[in-house]
Amino acid sequence: MSGFSFTLNASDGRARTGVIRTPRGEIRTPAFMPVGTAGTVKAMLPESVRATGADILLGNTYHLMLRPGAERIARLGGLHRFMNWSRPILTDSGGFQVMSLSELRKLTEDGVTFASHVDGSRHFLSPETSMEIQRLLGSDIVMAFDECPALPATHARQAEAMRLSMRWAQRSRDAFGDRPGHALFGIMQGGVERDLREESAEALRGIGFDGYAIGGLAVGEGQAAMLGVLDYATELLPAGQPRYLMGVGKPDDIVGAVQRGIDMMDCVLPSRSGRTGQAWTRRGQINIKNARHADDPRPLDEDCTCPACSGYSRAYLHHVFRAGEMISGMLLTWHNLHYYQQIMQQMREAIAAGTLDAWVAGFHAMRAQGDI
Ligand code: GUN
Ligand code: ZN
Repeated sequence: MSGFSFTLNASDGRARTGVIRTPRGEIRTPAFMPVGTAGTVKAMLPESVRATGADILLGNTYHLMLRPGAERIARLGGLHRFMNWSRPILTDSGGFQVMSLSELRKLTEDGVTFASHVDGSRHFLSPETSMEIQRLLGSDIVMAFDECPALPATHARQAEAMRLSMRWAQRSRDAFGDRPGHALFGIMQGGVERDLREESAEALRGIGFDGYAIGGLAVGEGQAAMLGVLDYATELLPAGQPRYLMGVGKPDDIVGAVQRGIDMMDCVLPSRSGRTGQAWTRRGQINIKNARHADDPRPLDEDCTCPACSGYSRAYLHHVFRAGEMISGMLLTWHNLHYYQQIMQQMREAIAAGTLDAWVAGFHAMRAQGDI
């Protein structure tokens, strides 16, 4: 498809590094995508998100269709213009958020009817309406409409949800049509069942997408089970197209996923935990609420170059969190997003140099030292 391409530059074991090219800019892979659910990465200006090293953001069909509405965003020039982010945006398709956030859901072959979590109003999402909303938003990477069943679920229930998602994947493909410069990604489902993952991958490959996501993970199965699926799941997808692991994760999940051949990830964790007083550093997690930081003149991480670490002590960060000051969420979110992008940049360099195993050993050794 013209205007959208993926070039692999190097691989190291199963890990790969490359570039996704879009008319709105390049995405260096492996890529971490900060989450801008409602048209903002909470507590961050778009230029600050860019300054952390992000090449692409994620937006949500579900939230934006309910408020302020996709037609309104289209009238105002599209989501990029609306939120003042000119680089690529990937939008999730809505089904996953309907299942976790809305009430009175009714799922049929056609789609899902639900009540808004904002005001209780009734809405309908289907492969066709999701493709139309993502078109109105102006999304660069559009996700197929899928169903992700809540876990634990029986094999029969997982099979049913996966097969429905594959029929919806075909309808998404048909409704998306041919849109030069815009990409459509399919989403593999099947939980932790290998036979279902294989069936899902075969169905998606048969339809043909610009990239392939792995959905239905990080929904409570635990890290070992998730990495166990990735041990085989990435190999089921075409080598020449981007592979996107949805909704992951903690820093060590991300490292494990990249080692297994994942090219893109997104997660609310660095931004959400920044607003609840959690910082992620090379030495693990820091809870800035903790009284032990009240007199500590040191930064979160003395080697971090982010604004929070360059200008502020742990004592200050502790104080503004306790005082409920807005700068608390701003500084911790910036630090967390900076740290996540540092990991991605270092992994891209290590893969290119063929030294990823050594880098991963250093990553785990540093965390084992703890916060000193
Ligand atoms: N975000 C995290 N997991 C999923 C999934 O399985 N499907 C979709 N559409 N979004 C997700
Ligand atoms: Zn920092």
